[in-house]
Amino acid sequence: EKGGYKHFMHKEIHEQPRAIADTLRGRMLLSEGDVHFDTWNLSLEQVKSFTKVTILACGTSWHSGVAGKHMIESLARLPVEVELASEFRYRDPIVEKSHLVIAISQSGETADTLGAFKEAKRLGAHTLAICNVIGSAMTRESDLHILTNAGPEIGVASTKAFTTQLVTLYLLAVKLGRMRGTLSVEGAQEHLTQLAQVPKMIEDVLKCEPQVKRVAREFMNAQDFLFLGRGPMHPVALEGALKLKEISYIHAEGYAGGEMKHGPIALIDEKMPVVVIAPKHPHVAYEKIIGNIEEVRARGGKVIAVIDEDDTQADTLADHVIRIPAASALLAPVVATIPLQLLAYHVAEMRGNDVDQPRNLAKSVTVE
Ligand code: F6R
Repeated sequence: EKGGYKHFMHKEIHEQPRAIADTLRGRMLLSEGDVHFDTWNLSLEQVKSFTKVTILACGTSWHSGVAGKHMIESLARLPVEVELASEFRYRDPIVEKSHLVIAISQSGETADTLGAFKEAKRLGAHTLAICNVIGSAMTRESDLHILTNAGPEIGVASTKAFTTQLVTLYLLAVKLGRMRGTLSVEGAQEHLTQLAQVPKMIEDVLKCEPQVKRVAREFMNAQDFLFLGRGPMHPVALEGALKLKEISYIHAEGYAGGEMKHGPIALIDEKMPVVVIAPKHPHVAYEKIIGNIEEVRARGGKVIAVIDEDDTQADTLADHVIRIPAASALLAPVVATIPLQLLAYHVAEMRGNDVDQPRNLAKSVTVE
């Protein structure tokens, strides 16, 4: 059932082109420049009346929420707040009827997310659940649900659930943008054309695996890792660090590049590998992230740069480069996550860890 792979996680990483194609299937109306969700039940009036979006999630799903904020704010011009569900539910949150509250959850059963979601509903918000598991509690509790269609995810460390959440959020951002009139038909068509290319791009980026394995071998005994990214690459940095922690048990931190000088720079020495996610795009403040690479190098740190295929600048500065196909700023998180999943997988595998069942973790966290 592992389809020739040693671990489910590895299989699920390689399933992503197919999983994302399933997320997109039947939902892109290219000629109309619109998105179709068969469960959709929000009227134009309702969508126009929303004043705010609050995203509730935990762990990896929270990271997709942070990326989703960039998508929804940029295409639908609605302010988005991304909240850790476990924090939201234990304070006195501000929720109004004009708020759209989105829960993101692979399992649809995470106790903290479900608790926060029910609280938001009780306070009168309109609720939307983005889940992978059909019939799960969150899909039942919500006013509207959208499935990610990744197929069953068995590895405890989330991979295809994450990238399909990103793609679902992108589709949602296009849909909201069209309904709110912030996105033109032509604009939507452009976004949809790019989305349609994602399965092929993921196939291409998976070819970086031999290079990622070399990096994994060199750093498999490191004690700490730092991951840096800016803008939409910030959640990718957080996710890269979480994946590595979970299955390799190496301490790792994800940081927004601009924050490095406010603390984590003190950690850098010759032993410290720093993964810098630096696709070339103005939204990602490429020149600034190049500055981060220089700062790390000046202190003897080892830089592993995830860069566009045609990049010639970061190339000369980094110790190792992992090249990925160039994607738009909003899509780059989907593409750039793949090498980080592979890095975590290979480091953990080389260390002899139980990749699919990491210690102390459960696939579905139903305790609060
Ligand atoms: C990380 C991971 C966890 C989950 C989190 C939320 O690889 O799997 O961080 O993302 O427990 O789970 P769901 O998405 O099921 O609510």
